[in-house]
Amino acid sequence: MSALHDLAARALHTLDPEEAHKLTVRALALGLGPRGGGDDPILATEVAGLALPNCIGLAAGFDKNAEAFGPMLGAGFGFVECGTVTPLPQAGNPRPRLFRLSEDRAVINRMGFNNEGLEAFAARLARRGPGVVGANIGANKDAADRIGDYVTGLKRLWGLASYFTINISSPNTPGLRALQTRAALEELLGRLAETRDALPAEGRVPMFLKVAPDLEDGEVEAIVETVIAHGLSGIIVSNTTISRPALRSRHAGEAGGLSGAPLKPLAAEMMARFHAAAGGRTALIGAGGIESGADAYARIRAGASAVQLYSALVFEGPGLVTRIKRDLAARLRADGFASVAAAVGAG
Ligand code: FNR
Repeated sequence: MSALHDLAARALHTLDPEEAHKLTVRALALGLGPRGGGDDPILATEVAGLALPNCIGLAAGFDKNAEAFGPMLGAGFGFVECGTVTPLPQAGNPRPRLFRLSEDRAVINRMGFNNEGLEAFAARLARRGPGVVGANIGANKDAADRIGDYVTGLKRLWGLASYFTINISSPNTPGLRALQTRAALEELLGRLAETRDALPAEGRVPMFLKVAPDLEDGEVEAIVETVIAHGLSGIIVSNTTISRPALRSRHAGEAGGLSGAPLKPLAAEMMARFHAAAGGRTALIGAGGIESGADAYARIRAGASAVQLYSALVFEGPGLVTRIKRDLAARLRADGFASVAAAVGAG
């Protein structure tokens, strides 16, 4: 069954990438996705109090409008992050804005937070069944008060999501990444912490900050300290890169964020830097170029308590999740680890 789905994923490559993605989400919503089967108990873990049946998650951007999280959990992901959602619906950048770099096993996107807005997103999350579903929140491009948009997202989705991700690392909303600098981050996380503390305690869930892989020396430490100071639960390392390592595809010159295989070394190095700076004081979730069990295992050993992926799915299809999980479980056992948690930061 999943071989068939992987074939379908390849057939979709004859279509424009954005049309292919839309079709995929529609098919998933209709229940045409693959079934992942049960999880090997060695892959179960806990991240900032969040119990995950397995440590492989679907990264944000695949299910921007919270339409396909159920089928993606069914396909075998241990958690699914929906969004980025902004308070108001937003069209995003003009097309084309999504490019497959097949020769590089990479993607470049400059979507620009196209999404249906908080109300549609909240209505779908409110009907969700069991499973870990995160809400990745952002700011509208034209927001007068950018930080206010994050506050609005947190309030509207309080009690609906399993966790929140504060996304300040998309390269496709001009100026957004400036929220990663110390003073701006202080203000953002300060206001979010204040909002969180004033909301009903029973709705309280972990809150993560998602960062770029393009950080200067010193920024990593400042981000870690600010996250801890404001009581956030952890950091997702990382979003797409604006850098351009050597690429072969004809789309290599497109503007936007690069993800997939060429992001792997950079994201892995960032994980190691965050792990060194955090020293176990805050949880880390790894993303960027994960396309195999070996990649997931290496990122965990570098400090990630769980990992997420998106781009590899474009090339491999949803059967990839099952293959990664099987391989990761075998690698943990071969090295004598009894759990994912035991391997976190093992080096
Ligand atoms: C993304 N990503 C992303 N991240 C985010 O926080 N909010 C978003 O809306 C999106 N949108 C988005 C669209 C597309 C088309 C791609 C390819 C990626 C980034 C994604 O969640 C992840 O952090 C990076 O893509 C790195 O992981 P992979 O793709 O290399 O596994």
